[in-house]
Amino acid sequence: MSNTAPRQILVTSALPYANGAIHLGHLLEYIQTDIWVRFQKSRGHECRYVCADDAHGTAIMLRAEQEGITSEALIDRVSREHQADFATFGVAFDNYHSTHSEENRHFSELIYTRLRDAGHIATRDIEQMYDPVKGLFLADRFIKGTCPKCRTDDQYGDNCEACGATYTPAELIDPVSAISGATPEVRSSTHFFFKLPDFADFLKRWIDHGHVQPQIRNKLMEWFEAGFNEWDISRDAPYFGFEIPDAPGKYFYVWLDAPIGYLASFKNLCEREGLDFDTYWKKNSDAEVYHFIGKDIVYFHALFWPAMLHGAGLRTPTAVNCHGFVTVNGAKMSKSRGTFIKAATYAEHLNPEYLRYYFAAKLTSGVDDLDLNLEDFAQRVNSDLVGKVVNIASRCAGFVKKLGGGTLSERCTEPDLVARFITAGDEIAEHFEAREFGRAMRLVMELADEANTYIAEAEPWVLAKQAGKEQEVLDICSVGINLFRQLMVYLAPVVPAMAEGARHFLRLDDLDWESRHELLLGHEIAKFKPLMTRVERDRIDAMIEASKEDLVEEQKLKETPKGPLADDPIAEEIAFDDFARVDLRIARIAKAEYVEGADKLLQLTLDLGGETRTVFAGIRSAYAPEALEGRLTVMVANLAPRKMRFGVSEGMVLAAGDDGGIYLLSPDSGAEPGQRVR
Ligand code: 2FM
Ligand code: ZN
Repeated sequence: MSNTAPRQILVTSALPYANGAIHLGHLLEYIQTDIWVRFQKSRGHECRYVCADDAHGTAIMLRAEQEGITSEALIDRVSREHQADFATFGVAFDNYHSTHSEENRHFSELIYTRLRDAGHIATRDIEQMYDPVKGLFLADRFIKGTCPKCRTDDQYGDNCEACGATYTPAELIDPVSAISGATPEVRSSTHFFFKLPDFADFLKRWIDHGHVQPQIRNKLMEWFEAGFNEWDISRDAPYFGFEIPDAPGKYFYVWLDAPIGYLASFKNLCEREGLDFDTYWKKNSDAEVYHFIGKDIVYFHALFWPAMLHGAGLRTPTAVNCHGFVTVNGAKMSKSRGTFIKAATYAEHLNPEYLRYYFAAKLTSGVDDLDLNLEDFAQRVNSDLVGKVVNIASRCAGFVKKLGGGTLSERCTEPDLVARFITAGDEIAEHFEAREFGRAMRLVMELADEANTYIAEAEPWVLAKQAGKEQEVLDICSVGINLFRQLMVYLAPVVPAMAEGARHFLRLDDLDWESRHELLLGHEIAKFKPLMTRVERDRIDAMIEASKEDLVEEQKLKETPKGPLADDPIAEEIAFDDFARVDLRIARIAKAEYVEGADKLLQLTLDLGGETRTVFAGIRSAYAPEALEGRLTVMVANLAPRKMRFGVSEGMVLAAGDDGGIYLLSPDSGAEPGQRVR
């Protein structure tokens, strides 16, 4: 058993924005973090992994508006989508929360008021572009115009994609609001600033004390030398976020409350599990706190965030662990090439564990970009996981079944070999701890090679054909299974689903790091099932094609005009004869009643002028039954009867609308029940 006391570790990944799908670029970070967390848990430490959706800001507010839903409805939906994607990829958060939560409001107000009361907040008026049509101040990326340098049209407010020039929106020629197309005006308003320069000395010490990687430290030093500015932490209404205490109409900028979301999510977990929040977050706490982030958001995590925490009397992170970006086949992910791959699209075609392994095999503790070369990906997964690791078990399992009745040998004939595999766990653990997953995977695959060589040289399949060699064959294969078990302990943080399959096969309670010390002797194993299949090239091609289609879908969404048609485009064209087959009739609602146990339905008794029909209609939210009785409407009279939980529905009444409102159709006066509608 390990003699070190369990560490208390809190780990986070960056909070994804609540207005877009998780893609492979995101997944590198969540997979990296999840592997590290699973490793810590395997080692017996008290490690907790929290995350949340980053739910505030103008982009989310506008996106919701574009979809015709509330910001709350958008962030609820996206949160469900994100969590489903993470679960698919085995990213096992201990808690997944939202920055639009009461905990986050509490901590944002707390940190802000502490900073304010200590004199670290300033206010002053600033001038900004304002969209007079939308009634909104415009961030630079919401302003477009002609580049003042090269005169290319349609460039964003801060830089030109054609010539690379940077400028202020005020310098753009003929600027327009990208939201409404209106010409922006310059307006002044009061903003709140976090006085980052107050923390220069503190930050200098902080980054010198090993809380960031060396490459990041160098970058931070450059920023230091350039000098710090005060940070604008407020935005004017309308804004989806938290109002600043005692400042009506002023909201916290999304990046102020985003990192505070780490505290909020952890607090939410503490409440649920009865943990002590302060043990982790008080000054000089012995607990460890790690943030895993991409290199694009270092400024926020290695400057603003420690300064805010320090200024508010809370502990600062043990380390901010930065990673690089994902490229695919050597280039930036590209929508048109089909290499901008969403998590869900990937998972429709390929096993998520392939990606976990491939990322692990290429990850270092540095910030270099990681290339997903799809050829190499297929080759490496097939050769390592399938060809080397699974192969060991599949070569040995059959003989254990046949010669040992499914029970491993009582003795270990290769104690030194097995002992070396166990000892190797110490070095592998060091690499995991240091986030050198690539090195860890190389060691594991070297061991797998050794195991395969041992089996190949012992040739159990040759011995099995000779009389009297049964025990020898069983001994060899039992060693093989023991070696396989060691490898699965080391791989479990990387490929948890495969490890779970292996655990069932080995009939073990767990595959924790310490568990490897106990050899499997006279131990019964289960029937072998393939634990992983090969990557098929055509599945990769199909994924790329599907990603190109994702782009087409997105384009359609952007180009569709606003209004009901945008959500519900006109259906495919049909022939007149098809239409003529639908028998529409005028019906009089003779009776309308509530349906017990159905909160959307009304039961209608319809008079067709000589015939009566019962129809269940989903219109309860819009109509009281008594308001409908006697009214004329239009029904589909030749719809096949449908058996519902409450009875049989013999047709359908016509209504327009959706969740936003329901409008039953009715004919002009003079129409008669039973008349055909054409
Ligand atoms: O860059 C992003 O995607 C941000 N949503 C990350 C926020 S991380 C933390 F600060 F919340
Ligand atoms: Zn230009």
